[in-house]
Amino acid sequence: MEKRSTFQGKLGFVLAAAGSAVGLGNLWRFPYLAAQYGGGMFLLVYIILAITFGFVLMVTEIAIGRKTQLSPMKAFGALNKKWGWLGKLATVVPVLIFPYYCLIGGWVTKYAFVMVTGKAAEAAEDTFFGNYVSATFDPIIWFLIFIVATTLVIIFGVNRGIEKLSRILMPALLLITVGLSIFVVTRPGSLEGVKYYLLPNIENLSVKTFLAALSQLFYSMSLAMGIMITYGSYFSKEEHIEKATRQIETFDTAIALLAGLMIIPAVFVFSGGDKAALSTGPSLMFVTLPKVFNSMPAGNFIGALFFFLVLFAAITSSVSIMEAIVSGLLDTFKISRLKATVIVMAYGIALGVVCSLGFGLWSGVEFPGIGGILDFLDFVSNSILLPLVGMLTCLMIGFFVKPDLIVSEVELNGPFTMKKFYKVMVKWIAPIFILAILVTNILGAFGLIKI
Ligand code: TRP
Repeated sequence: MEKRSTFQGKLGFVLAAAGSAVGLGNLWRFPYLAAQYGGGMFLLVYIILAITFGFVLMVTEIAIGRKTQLSPMKAFGALNKKWGWLGKLATVVPVLIFPYYCLIGGWVTKYAFVMVTGKAAEAAEDTFFGNYVSATFDPIIWFLIFIVATTLVIIFGVNRGIEKLSRILMPALLLITVGLSIFVVTRPGSLEGVKYYLLPNIENLSVKTFLAALSQLFYSMSLAMGIMITYGSYFSKEEHIEKATRQIETFDTAIALLAGLMIIPAVFVFSGGDKAALSTGPSLMFVTLPKVFNSMPAGNFIGALFFFLVLFAAITSSVSIMEAIVSGLLDTFKISRLKATVIVMAYGIALGVVCSLGFGLWSGVEFPGIGGILDFLDFVSNSILLPLVGMLTCLMIGFFVKPDLIVSEVELNGPFTMKKFYKVMVKWIAPIFILAILVTNILGAFGLIKI
């Protein structure tokens, strides 16, 4: 068997994993969930879950990957023959996410273009976003541009070049996000929003806060979908898994936190404290940010720069999502890489177009308690499959493979500081807690209980 290449340099792995993890999940999804599900309370719950559940799952996945040196499709089966199917189930998640991730990527591309053409003022109008997404052709065209670009990156194998670029562009994204959040929080009227976002208010705690925070955590850190197993299989045997996990988590959470700080107070500044504006959902970033850019000097330029950096972060993620599906296909069927890539693109286009039409022509298609077509896909993958795969992974490790296997992999490079905590979490607390969330989620969606 050919030896797997490993990441170069000390920070190589952390940067590559963080580069794949940081994407629309942080910039687009986190702020609208935080706005909707309790502001500071959401933030607090999210951070607690990140250092407990997120930590445990990420350590587990990286260790599984490094130990087995296999892709998720095969890694689970190699650890325990009876659990091979879990790798396949995990790979279903990228399959469901890919089409709509590219659709949102298309929205970002459109907004970058709008800013470049100097139309921040138009984009800042209340009706702009709604008109755009409900049109039939325009959003589909931008979506096609995005998904074809993603495909070309994979076909021409320029991932390496992209990885190099991301060493400059990701810090740039971080900087501009810091700059924008400073601009926003110093506007008159933002204080209310800063308070809402940073101060936990117990009144805002609900079951939904937990549901939303847990699925967002898995989504944003690319957990419970095989991705971190793949990254782990490339992780050098010389490095400490626990430390790397902390660094990836910190980076990913910092970006999400800043994205919220740039968007949520802006909702208060530009919509006169209208609470309903907090529940805008997936459109929040696209409705709010143009207003910010429109109100600042050189807004079109800064807006264009910002959306281009977001676009870049989105492409690195969509490439990694598509790559996961393609290698899943290659592991299962005897087909060429090119063929697999084209099949995945065709599938992505078909479903992505359906999602896009769900905002216009087919907006009548509603899933009760869930929302439109995009919301439905998002719900199945993030609110059902992610917790399910996360819980099953813990159960498999806790009772069938035994946590000691993971512990010994971590301890190859020094002490595992959180060893005791890890063992209890992976065996008992994580599975039980996640099961509770999962059941509540499903019952809630079917209207059997009120959450
Ligand atoms: N974590 C990514 C983000 O925050 C999104 C994502 C979901 C992803 N699944 C993935 C990225 C698989 C890479 C691979 O945007």
